[in-house]
Amino acid sequence: MSTVAVLGLGAMGRRMAKKLLEAGHDVVAYNRTGERARALEAEGATRAESPREAAARSDIVIGMVTDDDASRAVWLDANTGAIGGLREGAVAIESSTLTSAWVRELADAVTARGAGFLDAPVVGSRPQAEAGQLIYCVGGAAETLNKARGGLSAMGAAIHHVGPVAAGIATKLAVNALFGIQVAALGEMLGMVRKPPGRPAQRGRTS
Ligand SMILES: NC(=O)c1ccc[n+]([C@@H]2O[C@H](COP(=O)([O-])OP(=O)(O)OC[C@H]3O[C@@H](n4cnc5c(N)ncnc54)[C@H](OP(=O)(O)O)[C@@H]3O)[C@@H](O)[C@H]2O)c1
Repeated sequence: MSTVAVLGLGAMGRRMAKKLLEAGHDVVAYNRTGERARALEAEGATRAESPREAAARSDIVIGMVTDDDASRAVWLDANTGAIGGLREGAVAIESSTLTSAWVRELADAVTARGAGFLDAPVVGSRPQAEAGQLIYCVGGAAETLNKARGGLSAMGAAIHHVGPVAAGIATKLAVNALFGIQVAALGEMLGMVRKPPGRPAQRGRTS
């Protein structure tokens, strides 16, 4: 069992943190808005006042925040960023959906500190997070993933090692694009069902 910091306790992060607790890991909880971390304290986590404090107490540090700006704030803030607290040999994991360029920049900063880095975004939403059934697409070194596998297994039903750093986020964005295409195709199909082929469109209506 590991001590795992979770940075970001929004819709996804707090459900993921609960699965870690249920699996028996020690969880150090940080959230910008403190009440969310206090709520998780009641479930057995310990609370950190900053991402740096959370990282300093943990073997694995997971980011689950909105976007690149939020990720930069929790990892690289000059005074409170997790990077300054990472222990040598710790594993830093970004599970937020981010850009490849930022993931690479963050990976360089983490490895310069002597820690390992994985980009490990997830496929699945709140129900899958609640059930520990997320699908991980992981980029990074195999030995780094092996160190973190126990923690990720508490939150995910499948862990796919898809390549080096940033391969995880590339895969996740490809999956999102595929979902987008499916939604667009569904819209076209619904239009076709409402106006079957061979039946002329009513005057003044568009498809
Ligand atoms: N929701 C889904 O179904 C889903 C599925 C797959 C992947 N994802 C990805 O997972 C990530 C998290 O999604 P979510 O649904 O959990 O989002 P959310 O509920 O909106 O939570 C966002 C989290 O980011 C924090 N945050 C935002 N800006 C910040 C900043 N500048 N500094 C520090 N913390 C900041 C928020 O803190 P506060 O509480 O203080 O606002 C909160 O903890 C996103 O990248 C999203 O694309 C989401």
